[in-house]
Amino acid sequence: MNQPSSEPLFQRLEFARLEPEVMQARARAWSECIQGRRSVREFSSDPIPSGVLDACIQAAASAPSGAHRQPWTFVVVTSAAKKRAIRLAAEAEEQVFWREKISPEWRRALGPLGVDEHKPFLEAAPALIVVFRHVHGLEDGHKVANYYTQESVGIAVGFLLCALHQAGLASLTHTPSPMGFLQTVLERPAHERAFVLIPVGYPARDCQVPALVRKPLDEVRLFA
Ligand SMILES: Cc1cc2nc3c(=O)[nH]c(=O)nc-3n(C[C@H](O)[C@H](O)[C@H](O)COP(=O)(O)O)c2cc1C
Repeated sequence: MNQPSSEPLFQRLEFARLEPEVMQARARAWSECIQGRRSVREFSSDPIPSGVLDACIQAAASAPSGAHRQPWTFVVVTSAAKKRAIRLAAEAEEQVFWREKISPEWRRALGPLGVDEHKPFLEAAPALIVVFRHVHGLEDGHKVANYYTQESVGIAVGFLLCALHQAGLASLTHTPSPMGFLQTVLERPAHERAFVLIPVGYPARDCQVPALVRKPLDEVRLFA
């Protein structure tokens, strides 16, 4: 729930300072853990243990948001019929994208990833999490402004991808373009826009991922 905007209400912050060695060890352990995350496009159909997705979504929904509007909905899709409907609609959009919309430069950039208009992972993965961004809020049926919704939902999705990886699941950040069909298939209200479609599960046996190189620290971190 959004806080009422008038009177601020404060509570004591629970915060435990850690010893420097503990901080260093935790920072290194987390860095190593998250560097093992990869986008997976080949999934096993094995089910996800119960409660895991709920915990990950709860983690995502703890993200900061502009004016604490929490402008997000996470829809978990496990029904075979809905996954099929999403795959068919996504592939129809992607066929147009790959045939008519993609620029030569974009096609070149996607080349090393081996992606195309075929999206079998949308049916193979045991769950799809579709994240919706609330372009505005609703309070007592009235429209209220939201702030920095792109940034807020982007951060929440980052939390979600981390939580899924940390829980031992693989995921893909998928953005079929355009994504309006998700609002229709999942019957979301007009003020919610699909932000990203995340297949989740275990990687398929012998799953392959593109051999990518990440920029080294000295290239991405500067001192000023
Ligand atoms: C905003 C965003 C949109 C993406 N959209 C797609 C997509 O539609 N299809 C896809 O296969 N991968 C998509 N990706 C995944 C990227 O291709 C992937 O993150 C990148 O190649 C790096 O690989 P890694 O995630 O394994 O490190 C997307 C990633 C981001 C952050």
